[in-house]
Amino acid sequence: LNYQTAQYMISAPTLAQCPPETGAEVAFAGRSNAGKSSSINTLTQNSRLARTSKTPGRTQLINFFSLHKGTDQRLVDLPGYGFAKVPEKVKLEWQRHLSEYLLQRQSLRGIVLVMDIRHPLTEFDQMMLQWADEVNKPVHILLTKSDKLKRGAAKNALQQVRSALQEWQDLVTIQMFSSLKKDGVDQLRKKLDEWLAD
Ligand code: GTP
Ligand code: MG
Repeated sequence: LNYQTAQYMISAPTLAQCPPETGAEVAFAGRSNAGKSSSINTLTQNSRLARTSKTPGRTQLINFFSLHKGTDQRLVDLPGYGFAKVPEKVKLEWQRHLSEYLLQRQSLRGIVLVMDIRHPLTEFDQMMLQWADEVNKPVHILLTKSDKLKRGAAKNALQQVRSALQEWQDLVTIQMFSSLKKDGVDQLRKKLDEWLAD
């Protein structure tokens, strides 16, 4: 599939406002500031597609991008979770919208779970895995910002996450990624091709 022609479609605050559940889509989830929006931009080779920021909590809506104008294949940039500086009430709202989307969305084929390679497997990441398991949707983990670690340390981190997730191995695949260095793009593309193919 060609990801370079991806276009912004719509931002939805809740599941009810998402586009129709036809076709297929892949959602990018992960902790606030992990690098979700950046990885979408790296995949699509469009640095201005999904809005990125140094300030955690930038993406607050469910953002949809179609692969080509008028096709029924979409990339979805989810709000980051775990952002400390919002009131508890707002956090719970986000969490509710996120779980509704993940548990109920028919066109969702798989979840790209983005983790900062230096801080993998947060409590929220575990919750995402539980939700994915509940609805039997596959998860592809990006250990991103791999450029922040030396090669050996990055490999260690990958190994550790692999062994920690052994019980999930039917559901989960894992790779290193760097938006800065454009590392791991082919591997990600292959996985999405698999999921989005009809
Ligand atoms: P929210 O929308 O707030 O949940 O964040 P996000 O997960 O979409 O993160 P975003 O892509 O906005 O990136 C957060 C910060 O991390 C930005 O300053 C990016 O430039 C930086 N960043 C993202 N990916 C990488 C990477 O692979 N390497 C490095 N060094 N920095 C990265
Ligand atoms: Mg974002």
